[in-house]
Amino acid sequence: MIILAIESSCDETSVSITDERKILSNIISTQIAEHKIYGGVVPEIASRRHTEAISQVCEEALKSAGITYGDIDAVAVTFAPGLIGALLVGVNFAKGLSYALGVPLIPVHHLRSHIAANYIDAPELKPPFMCLTVSGGNTIITEVTDYTKFTPIGRTTDDAAGECFDKTARALGLSYPGGVNLDKIATTADTKLYPLPTPHTENEYDFSFSGLKTAVVNLVHNKTQKGEEIDVPVLAATIRQKVCDILIQKTLSATESKGYKTLVMAGGVSANSELRTRMQQECDARGIKLYYPTLKYCGDNAAMVGVQGYYEYVSGNISDASLNATATLPINYQ
Ligand code: KG4
Repeated sequence: MIILAIESSCDETSVSITDERKILSNIISTQIAEHKIYGGVVPEIASRRHTEAISQVCEEALKSAGITYGDIDAVAVTFAPGLIGALLVGVNFAKGLSYALGVPLIPVHHLRSHIAANYIDAPELKPPFMCLTVSGGNTIITEVTDYTKFTPIGRTTDDAAGECFDKTARALGLSYPGGVNLDKIATTADTKLYPLPTPHTENEYDFSFSGLKTAVVNLVHNKTQKGEEIDVPVLAATIRQKVCDILIQKTLSATESKGYKTLVMAGGVSANSELRTRMQQECDARGIKLYYPTLKYCGDNAAMVGVQGYYEYVSGNISDASLNATATLPINYQ
């Protein structure tokens, strides 16, 4: 089944042509350079750039896959959650295309598609499994009982892990997107030199990252005001270690308590080098099979939307011209 998939939830305009789990093309036009000077994504600029890029990206995706509009069986699109103006560009483009081609329109939840990124290079992977989805806007532990059935058991009560990485990186003078750059320059953690707080949450599988973020920002300001030097690579490594400690401990505890032998990581932060290495070691020691996406599918892309779109279609999740974009929506919305 040939799906044309569209992703525009944040700062990447992406169109992909997929055939079930096979990726025929995946074109991504990123706006990172433009948002860099502001230290984060400016929603209005993001929407405008999506509007400018989407037709061209769509043409490129078709050309790269070697197909024409007539070969498309369905159109899938990220409709929630994300930046509302950015989502609307993709949703409206998808609605127009599905109407013009007379093919079904498939709404895809952004976090579901991040999880589906794992199906692309792991043909044997199928639910049920436990999943940690960790990105710039979300941090959530979910039981994936079927391709379109999700039971969240823990989520962030404030900031996402990616937000914590991005804002602490900014305080350290690193450019946007901070998480990637913090990961690149981090050396060895020193918790004696830079002691950081461990957040407390009521539900043991929930997360909280805003206190950690504020602690780092305050630490940097205090040192700067006193004219003291900061060892940026060491502090970066200390932040990374703390975030990974939290993510790994809670996720493994949830996985073991529910008796899962398969764990999946998804989302932009699943690209983090320490998270991948340490989670792998911990899973190996416990006999848990770990999956995480190939690096190119960790961040936002339309290939993962097409793959999840296929499973949404199979389960009967099809929309019509009344489809609207939604800024926030739980992963188990139906
Ligand atoms: O999934 P994603 O591309 O977009 C959202 O849906 O949010 O995730 C973006 C987030 C950003 O916070 C970015 O800094 C973070 O993923 N990120 C990383 C790494 N690569 C991307 N964080 C830590 N280490 C990385 N290597």
